[in-house]
Amino acid sequence: MTDELFDIKSGYISFNNPIAIASMAGKTDSSFANSYGKNAGLVVLGGYNLDAATNEAAKKIKSRGREEFVSDEPLEFLRSEIENTEISGVAAFNLRTTSIEPLIEAANIIREAGGILELDAHCRQEEMIEIGAGEALMEDLPRLEEWIRLIKETGVVLSVKIRTNVVDDEELAKAIEDAGADILHVDAMKTGAGADLNAIRKIRDVTRLLLIGNNSIQDFSDAKEMFSRGADMVSMARAVVANPDVVPTMVELVSQYQRGIGWYNAPKHVCRGEGDLRGLTFCCLPVKPCAIHSKIKKLGFSPKEFADLKMEFVKGTPLEFGDSTCFGSLAWCCKISKPCFLRDGVLDVLDMSPAEYMRLKKEMADYILENSKNK
Ligand SMILES: Cc1cc2nc3c(=O)[nH]c(=O)nc-3n(C[C@H](O)[C@H](O)[C@H](O)COP(=O)(O)O)c2cc1C
Ligand code: SF4
Ligand code: SF4
Repeated sequence: MTDELFDIKSGYISFNNPIAIASMAGKTDSSFANSYGKNAGLVVLGGYNLDAATNEAAKKIKSRGREEFVSDEPLEFLRSEIENTEISGVAAFNLRTTSIEPLIEAANIIREAGGILELDAHCRQEEMIEIGAGEALMEDLPRLEEWIRLIKETGVVLSVKIRTNVVDDEELAKAIEDAGADILHVDAMKTGAGADLNAIRKIRDVTRLLLIGNNSIQDFSDAKEMFSRGADMVSMARAVVANPDVVPTMVELVSQYQRGIGWYNAPKHVCRGEGDLRGLTFCCLPVKPCAIHSKIKKLGFSPKEFADLKMEFVKGTPLEFGDSTCFGSLAWCCKISKPCFLRDGVLDVLDMSPAEYMRLKKEMADYILENSKNK
């Protein structure tokens, strides 16, 4: 049922729902995935260490009390983990290494199994950074780009796991997209508690990659905050350990929400700087001084070009109607969560459900971004 409810795809991968489990070294193996991730849209297993250097580093990390996966036969271990994973969703494998060769072998194994390779450019354990693995990759863009290009030559679907506020997030995201990755998995870490939602919004605005938002998500309200900044999926790590029911609960809630609203990751309005560029679909006719102008400039549109583009999209669709609304057409109307009897009156006359209205607004958002002059 959820298969038809969500339209989340990347290469040969199709996700049942947008709820994911993020990897935790030493914990998230096949048996963890089978126990906690049965109905997750995605489970990221690992991080697995693919070469001798990363396995040695993992041993050192273990000796100071952190859990790690260590193996003398890393590729065999990966193969057996793939075989032992029995989940209804998609499995990804978070991998660390100091050289590209084992990654290519792993990519071929994972592609044949229909999974996702997740390159770990995120690990901040000193022992890994010292040998050039994990976070060191974020600091070495030419190597990261080269590895992405080489991994993609195998045809595997590739996710890159990063952490915000280490390097320039926007430059990093663009480089990862340009190098050919499919998915960006972002730990939106910031100093202090909670996730850096602003960083997710900024990354959303510079890339069309499938975006997985992560950090401090404990319940559906946290997930909605991340979705409304542009995340296509959200992932949780610590919350899954703290509350084993969190994944099924979130899958149920996001499915209900999608049935009701039609666009589970609809953006916020751009007025107060919280909405990403998709939020332009809810914007008024650009006739007053407000946040819309800096947003449309980012896409290279003049106010008139933007107005023309929206009217071009709505022509022949029900959004064309709405004489009684503020700007004479539903093209300019607000998100369904904003109460408005004028818009809702038009929807009643058109016999259009709120979910159908939002689905058309989503199509309009895609149309606006596809026609950007600054691609
Ligand atoms: C014990 C532990 C081990 C982790 N190991 C990895 C790892 O191997 N690879 C990785 O990309 N992230 C790793 N992470 C980061 C998590 O995947 C996640 O990005 C981070 O915990 C923030 O998400 P959360 O707030 O939902 O826990 C680890 C986190 C924890 C707590
Ligand atoms: S055009 Fe309307 S919705 Fe958009 S930023 Fe301005 S006031 Fe807000
Ligand atoms: S009619 Fe209502 S929904 Fe439409 S633009 Fe005006 S306030 Fe927003």
